[in-house]
Amino acid sequence: MSAAPQAPAEIAAAVIDPLAYAEWDGLLDKFDVLRRDMPVARIENGDLHDPFLLVTGYDDVMRISKDNKTFLNSPKGVVFGFREGEEIVKAVTGGSPHLVNSLVALDAPIHPKYRRLTQEWFMPKNLKQLEAEIGALAKTTVDRLVEASQENGNGEADFVPLAASPYPLHVIMQILGVPEADEQRMLFLTQQMFGGQDEDLNKTGMANMTAEQITQLVIGAVADFETYFAKITEEKRANPTDDVASVIANAKVDGEYLSDRDMAGYYIIVASAGHDTTSASTSGAMMALAQDPEQFARLKVDRDLLPGIVEEAIRWTSPVQHFMRTAAEDVEVGGVSVKKGDWLMINYVAANHDDRVFENPRKFDAARSPNRHLAFGAGAHQCLGLHMARMEMKILFNELLDRIETVELAGEPKRAKSSFVGGLKTLPLRCTLSK
Ligand code: HEM
Repeated sequence: MSAAPQAPAEIAAAVIDPLAYAEWDGLLDKFDVLRRDMPVARIENGDLHDPFLLVTGYDDVMRISKDNKTFLNSPKGVVFGFREGEEIVKAVTGGSPHLVNSLVALDAPIHPKYRRLTQEWFMPKNLKQLEAEIGALAKTTVDRLVEASQENGNGEADFVPLAASPYPLHVIMQILGVPEADEQRMLFLTQQMFGGQDEDLNKTGMANMTAEQITQLVIGAVADFETYFAKITEEKRANPTDDVASVIANAKVDGEYLSDRDMAGYYIIVASAGHDTTSASTSGAMMALAQDPEQFARLKVDRDLLPGIVEEAIRWTSPVQHFMRTAAEDVEVGGVSVKKGDWLMINYVAANHDDRVFENPRKFDAARSPNRHLAFGAGAHQCLGLHMARMEMKILFNELLDRIETVELAGEPKRAKSSFVGGLKTLPLRCTLSK
């Protein structure tokens, strides 16, 4: 068995470049070339980052995701990072590549014990109780969009900052028991910790800081987060409610409450995993509908089509663009040898555009069936919030379809520069309202 071939320099540079993810079609072209010529490709860019093996085929990504014994979420990072950034994280954590001890950074035997704590809470049966609450948030969201579109007299409004982005953030903050007044602070802290790569979205000023300044900022953000949620924990132990924060605060593993650091990691993963992702799928679905007025009109009268639209939007946008794994032993993947300790990137965008599984993968096809996409991952770490994401999107779209008669693009949609979680950062629409 041979070693993985080296990707051409231009492709190797693109697959780690946040800007390349903003220029979607060019990126998909590159993934198509890799999947055809070298489905497991070695990516090296000098000293910028540790070399890794990029996996682009659906079957290989599925197999790696499901084999949680051979492909671990540690000891190397679970998200791609440049060496400079990794040094900062290690300086903050005292050697660990994981800024916080969250579910995605854990492996068995600890991971299943931690995951079990909230698994039930995230199941459809429990989430049903939240329908009315989420419905109210969806209504406020559409009110805001409609108001903005009427204010300027031409029905135009930017869907991302007015609807797609704030709505999932409100939902998550509500389930974590964070009052609305603190939401912006939480958003800011999340951005400071994870250093969003798009300057229009990341208002922390990190882009112009030295590594030392960033390290101090990140240490401060983690400490702020821990202090903030320590207070929530205290409240939820004294007066538990039925929100997920109460479950986390009162959870015990092997008879003990979680440590402050582990609890903060749990809150942080729930707080951060559910908003940019759901926002990206929501705005992607809206863009597809704005480009296809007939489909929008059909959907208005036949809401049974909605689940298909939501599912296809999640595949088509694949908001979580990759995760990383570390090989626990020597193994073969896609015909090449992988050595113990190798770092692998499972790329969901590439896998969800594999034309051996999805016919005409770049087409938004709401009738696609089956649609067994990998946008939520697979195996032990499969997205814990997948039912919630689907439910949130359906509730919002039902509200939008009730209130909006027609929708079309009013300008050029733009994608964020980000190699990890990505999607639209602006979607100018022109709407007319239902009578
Ligand atoms: C369209 C929206 C979303 C997408 C595309 C998405 C995608 C993903 C992906 C790809 C993973 C990693 C899967 C793997 O390693 O196999 C993941 C994990 C996770 N997601 Fe989501 N997610 C979304 C929404 C949400 C929401 C709404 C929440 C919670 C409120 C959430 C919470 C989590 C958590 C806690 C994990 C870690 C699970 C673990 O490691 O055991 N996600 N998500």
